[in-house]
Amino acid sequence: MPPPLDITLNALAVVGAALALPRLYRLLDFLWLYFLRPDSVKRYLHGRAPYAIVTGATDGIGKVTAAELLARGFNVVLHGRNEAKMQQVVRELRAQGKGKGEAGERDIRYFIADAAKAGHDFAKLVEPFGDLHVTVVVHNVGGSDLCSPRIDGHSEDYILGVVNKNSFFSLFLTRALLPQLRRAAQSGPVQVFFVGSLAGDIAPVRLPIYAASKGFLESLARGLDNDEQFLGADDRPTGVRFGYLSVSAVHSDNHDAPMPPSLTTPTSARFARALVDAVGCGRRRVAPYWVHAVLSWLVELGPESVADAASAQEMRGLIARAEKGR
Ligand SMILES: NC(=O)c1ccc[n+]([C@@H]2O[C@H](COP(=O)([O-])OP(=O)(O)OC[C@H]3O[C@@H](n4cnc5c(N)ncnc54)[C@H](OP(=O)(O)O)[C@@H]3O)[C@@H](O)[C@H]2O)c1
Repeated sequence: MPPPLDITLNALAVVGAALALPRLYRLLDFLWLYFLRPDSVKRYLHGRAPYAIVTGATDGIGKVTAAELLARGFNVVLHGRNEAKMQQVVRELRAQGKGKGEAGERDIRYFIADAAKAGHDFAKLVEPFGDLHVTVVVHNVGGSDLCSPRIDGHSEDYILGVVNKNSFFSLFLTRALLPQLRRAAQSGPVQVFFVGSLAGDIAPVRLPIYAASKGFLESLARGLDNDEQFLGADDRPTGVRFGYLSVSAVHSDNHDAPMPPSLTTPTSARFARALVDAVGCGRRRVAPYWVHAVLSWLVELGPESVADAASAQEMRGLIARAEKGR
């Protein structure tokens, strides 16, 4: 019979190992996901002419994501709200492809719709693209003003506009596209991403509606993914997969208070490369940029009160800078 001290030490060792194992698994998974995994986006280049749809594609993350997808072999359908700006973006993207062989010959199409408005005829919006073989969709449109009123200082129309832009536009566009996506999935995988935000996890001051709208996207991604996987056609998976992207600060010149690029705030081009790399990674929730994944993990580790106070402090500075710049 071993002495009681040995039994206690052995029991502690077992508890220690049980506690350490999930962390070790998480570390190995992190290394695999960001540094070791083979290129998965290539698998989405199936069919005679594969297309990617990117919403909010006339600026910021959406515009460079479209450029990245073109460079990786996709034709693209872009969405924006301003036709003149869109035509300029299409010219820029065509110019970037010139002299690059096949990249210069890829098809670039677009549609225009104000995502903040309700009442679009989504079936009609997607009709011109109904025959295209769409294998990737990036629901990127979204955002919120950095402004000082609390919700009782905003009109109902303003609040509905934020929800439409960040949640409902992506929901109803997905609904209209699904039959077409399922058809494409018969010849290979199809990926739909909703671009989310760290705000959806930490709900910073002055952004409760924006944060809640991003939280909606996360549940929507999971629910739709479950629907397509477990109760698809004849109870077989349809091959259309959904994912929610957890995004922290990304530098974009057009913002009210642009954050300078840094390790934690990548340029939109760097972020777009990470986003396209995440296509086909098999996760339903993923931070495409590895430093954002570390930040999310740190937020999870600490007490909520610390995250709340730190984000309130950060928001005070951002709102002051945005108001100064107006
Ligand atoms: N950048 C960040 O730090 C950050 C952090 C977390 C999450 N995100 C998320 O990432 C996504 C992209 O952000 P971003 O910073 O790249 O945004 P951005 O630079 O402001 O660009 C937004 C894009 O969406 C379009 N857009 C805005 N409102 C629209 C409307 N009502 N109807 C149609 N199109 C509209 C813009 O069109 P115009 O060119 O006409 O303005 C532009 O093409 C958003 O979903 C945002 O919530 C960004």
